[in-house]
Amino acid sequence: MNIYPYDAPIMNTKADSNTTSANSISHRMNIEYAKANIPVDLPHSERLVVEENIKQLLKNNNAVLVAHYYVDPFIQDLALATGGCVGDSLEMARFGQAHSAQTLVVAGVRFMGESAKILSMEKTVLMPDLEAECSLDLGCPIDEFSAFCDAHPERTVVVYANTSAAVKARADWVVTSSVGIDIIRHLHAKGEKIIWGPDRHLGKYIARETGADMLLWQGSCLVHNEFKATELLQLKEQHPNAKVLVHPESPDSVVALADVVGSTSKLLTSTYEMDADTFIVATDLGILHEMQKRSPTKRFLAAPTAGESASCKSCAFCPWMAMNGLKGIEQCLTDYSGEVLMSAELAADAIKPLQRMLDFAESQKLRVEASGDIVKDRALFANVGAA
Ligand code: 13P
Ligand code: SF4
Repeated sequence: MNIYPYDAPIMNTKADSNTTSANSISHRMNIEYAKANIPVDLPHSERLVVEENIKQLLKNNNAVLVAHYYVDPFIQDLALATGGCVGDSLEMARFGQAHSAQTLVVAGVRFMGESAKILSMEKTVLMPDLEAECSLDLGCPIDEFSAFCDAHPERTVVVYANTSAAVKARADWVVTSSVGIDIIRHLHAKGEKIIWGPDRHLGKYIARETGADMLLWQGSCLVHNEFKATELLQLKEQHPNAKVLVHPESPDSVVALADVVGSTSKLLTSTYEMDADTFIVATDLGILHEMQKRSPTKRFLAAPTAGESASCKSCAFCPWMAMNGLKGIEQCLTDYSGEVLMSAELAADAIKPLQRMLDFAESQKLRVEASGDIVKDRALFANVGAA
């Protein structure tokens, strides 16, 4: 395995507090902005009124709600109750593209809304808050990433879905955590060397699993980067029968302690497929809602983010995901604020690597049901076409 660290600004939250680079300052300000703009919980009676209003607005606007597992549980439940979907980023993209509704309301972060728009330019894509960012996207500006790619023209550029449309447009492939390993394995088998961005932990994990030669951009997720191996080990010792579920955006010392490593959907599926009654979960706490719903008698413990080396700016809680609120959904469906706009030229470039991923997933029979379940059949893996 070859991993060549690239000396890009490290978007690690601990580094943020000790550096004065322009990039990290704007990143930190964004986190503070997000935290200051998390909607307040609605009183019960008001929430019911808003939910009923949203149901009506969805019907009137021929709209469907597409939500990520990390958003407010009330939004997740509303998406399912109205025929929308709750899923990981791959499922959200697939569901939005396949659905016949004219309007998609994407409750997640900006790159998810952009992916929906790229895949369905003819649809209106609305978001409750267009300023819901992602530290991976923020930590991978197009100019710097493009220069990085230009310096290694012999390499295939593979980017994580957590990137801007411009970065996607610069890439040969887009992947999500659901299909990243399979796609890199496929490229590695063809002898291709890879440029990977932006998440360094996911890149390192995939490089180790596949043996591919990967040059890594040094981004990180402010949520997953905070999980701590020493404290996780202590929690494991207190609960020796618990299974540890880890999202691969976490540091490799944390991944090393996992029983299951995977996308949010894969972690969820494990909780009801595995014969264990306690799980330690290293990803955003929003996922616990669906896990507990699926397995009411099982116990779910949040993996530790605190400890000696912790700065805990996020504490397993993505402030940008938390910016999605019921009132924001009601608002955007009422006045069409929060519309994701994109030039036809940019979308035409960005759809190529994104569609390539979806076609690849399809060729593997990676089927996503509205419930969020993934049905996977690897038999067709060998038939996937070249980039
Ligand atoms: P998934 O692809 O697992 O949904 O991950 C997206 C994300 O933002 C995780 O932090
Ligand atoms: Fe981005 Fe991390 Fe938030 Fe996911 S949890 S949207 S990767 S900052």
